[in-house]
Amino acid sequence: MAQVMGEFRSQISLPENEFPRRWYNVLPDLSPPLPPPKEPEAGPSRMEFLAKTMIHECLRQESSSERWVSIPYEVRELYLQAGRPRPLYRARRLEKRLGLKLVRLYYKREDLSPTGSHKVNTALAQAYYAQKEGKTTLSTETGAGQWGTALSYAAKLAGLDCVVFWVRSVYDWKTDRRTLMKLYGAKVFPSPSTETRTGRDTLAKDPHHQGSLGLAVSEGLEYAEAHEGAVYCLGSVLNHVLMHQSVIGLEAIKQFEMVGDSPDLIVGCLGGGSNFGGLALPFVGEVLQKKRECDFLAVQTAASPTLVSGQYRYDFGDVAEHTPLMMMYTIGHQSEMTPIKADGLRYHAASPIISALRHGGIVRATACPTDERAVFEAAKLFLESEGWLIAPESSYAVKGSIDEALKAERAGKEKAICMNISGHGFLDIEAYRERLSIN
Ligand SMILES: Cc1ncc(COP(=O)(O)O)c(C=O)c1O
Repeated sequence: MAQVMGEFRSQISLPENEFPRRWYNVLPDLSPPLPPPKEPEAGPSRMEFLAKTMIHECLRQESSSERWVSIPYEVRELYLQAGRPRPLYRARRLEKRLGLKLVRLYYKREDLSPTGSHKVNTALAQAYYAQKEGKTTLSTETGAGQWGTALSYAAKLAGLDCVVFWVRSVYDWKTDRRTLMKLYGAKVFPSPSTETRTGRDTLAKDPHHQGSLGLAVSEGLEYAEAHEGAVYCLGSVLNHVLMHQSVIGLEAIKQFEMVGDSPDLIVGCLGGGSNFGGLALPFVGEVLQKKRECDFLAVQTAASPTLVSGQYRYDFGDVAEHTPLMMMYTIGHQSEMTPIKADGLRYHAASPIISALRHGGIVRATACPTDERAVFEAAKLFLESEGWLIAPESSYAVKGSIDEALKAERAGKEKAICMNISGHGFLDIEAYRERLSIN
């Protein structure tokens, strides 16, 4: 195909037998080492709480010093069934539309997943480990709803029940995605809910509270603690989640080799950091090992611009302070954040790994205004030129890439940019209608 279509080829497909057999763990390559999580000065042990409520294998992976971790055969088979490897595309029509002569644009297709996003990469692994550990129910939080759907799907395939606490401001408008979760058999609650102590306390203070990811995390953890056989699964932020997502970047490295190109810049949207980390970390590893040069740009929302203007300090991962303290760029675990349509990006802190890379000058970051007009315009441009309807979150990566491409072009610099299309937007039409004022 490569020879036949030559330079006109847009889709770069990795053969199934080239799909990675191991996840990449960046921890042993970080220097200085990642600051470990710690207990707060007061209250019960948060580490013991996590040991009671989370999957043991995932907690073990959290501090693994192995650079390569074998993907269990069963998980690999599930990845293939879910359509991996996923293609890398050269955005030739978008390049033309932008008048680019020096800049080449590529995008990785994580939207081509059964539930519509990259989140299945860790959902399948977590459901597999939970089932092996004899658990019967997975509980979780979700913001955009993509993670909740991915875990509902993975739970169903593993024969487990699933309970989702969904940030209320999104639960209320994404009715079709809610139906999809229920089709997979999940129980779905708007968060704050009446199911947990934290939910009830919050509703007592404000019956119309719009919710936040940090609050939904607290509810998911409390549910797991209170229910026999239940275990809590997190869809982003933690080290093991980013490691499961590394299949994205590992595939992309091989796909760039197939076309004899190499990215100078990798761009992803960033909420907790899982899709950005998934694409970027295998490349970051090679940068840290001095095997390649590449820049990395995380695109955030001004509703929670953690890497742009947050503080690098220890903070909790949830509102109710159930988690240990983690060293992260944070705007404060109890801060109020404006709801946005790309709500999967609205989280008070960035993953410890991505935070450390930002602190070390490897990753840069930018934030887009909360009116989201410019990011939805970028998504529309992408749709008009490449044809794909992408998730509101992914629009941030497209906006960041377009800005960087035009900047390089103006400066007369030749460059290859690779962005991550973390999800599709089929169930987000309402957001497009509202942000782009379509009647
Ligand atoms: C499609 C999509 N992209 C990106 C994100 C942001 O999360 P993360 O930073 O963990 O990739 C989300 C979160 O829900 C999402 O649904």
